[in-house]
Parts: sequence; C-alpha cells; structure tokens
Amino acid sequence: MSTLSNASAKIFLSAAALFIFAARASGATGCPPTEPDEVGPFYRPNAPVRSQIGDGYLLAGTVLSSPDCTPIPQARIEVWQAGPAGRYDDAHRATLFSDEKGRYRLETHFPPAYRTRPPHIHILVEAPGFQRLITQHYPKKGAKQATFALVLVPAR
Ligand SMILES: [Fe+2]
Repeated sequence: MSTLSNASAKIFLSAAALFIFAARASGATGCPPTEPDEVGPFYRPNAPVRSQIGDGYLLAGTVLSSPDCTPIPQARIEVWQAGPAGRYDDAHRATLFSDEKGRYRLETHFPPAYRTRPPHIHILVEAPGFQRLITQHYPKKGAKQATFALVLVPAR
C-alpha cells in the first residue's frame, strides 16, 4: 500500500515538474511582455520630465523584465495623450523614470475618445539592455486609476 502510494507520489511529482518545466520553456509563467501597439501620428521626442499632466486619473505600475519579472530601475518612460479638449499638445506629454524598484506613477486626466479611437494613453519605454516598447494603455470607462505593468524584452 505504502509502496503504491510512494510510486503514485513519484509519478505525480514527475508530472508536476515536467509541467512546470514546459510552462517555463513556453513562457507561460512569469511576466509575458507587454503587448506592443501603434506609435500613432502624434509622438514627439523629448517631452519634459514631469509626473503630472492632468488631474483625475492615476496610471501607475512597474517596469519589469520578461520573463523573470525583475524590476527595471531608471527606465525612461514617455507618455502622450489627447488633452481634455481632444487634441494632442505639448501640455499632455511627459517623460518619467522608474524608481529603484521599477515603479512609475503618472497623474493625468481620463483621456477623451479621439476621432474613431477609444480613450488611450500612448507609452514608450526604453532601458539599457532591453528592446524599446511602444504600447498604449486603454482606461476602463469611469475608472479613476489603473495599474499597467510595462514588461520589456531583453535585447538580443
Ligand atoms: Fe493616440
């Protein structure tokens, strides 16, 4: 009886180990890279360094390395979005840097829908040793804050 149990336990553990190995090999665990998105026509480089471009919506999160979820400090993050009047302008662009734990925090306003596009905030992230990420955050209707992880892929 106990021999059978031990054998079952060994088979179970082997299967579990194999599953974990397969999941890691396929990238199914850990931190999958943030989905890239269109840069769009309104990106302008060299946005001023600041952490506030509006009121009423807080976007925060952590810059992480895929696939092991290591925080990336001092990542350079650029954001740009339409102002409350529905236009892109210099007042609604910012450059910020992740802190020593990889965290970032932007105070802004809920972006208006822009032409045919749903509300969105453009984000570009650069860090030494990683591929540049260009993505967009889509706030949920009525939300006042969101957490958005920026997961970068190591450079080859
Ligand atoms: Fe846009």
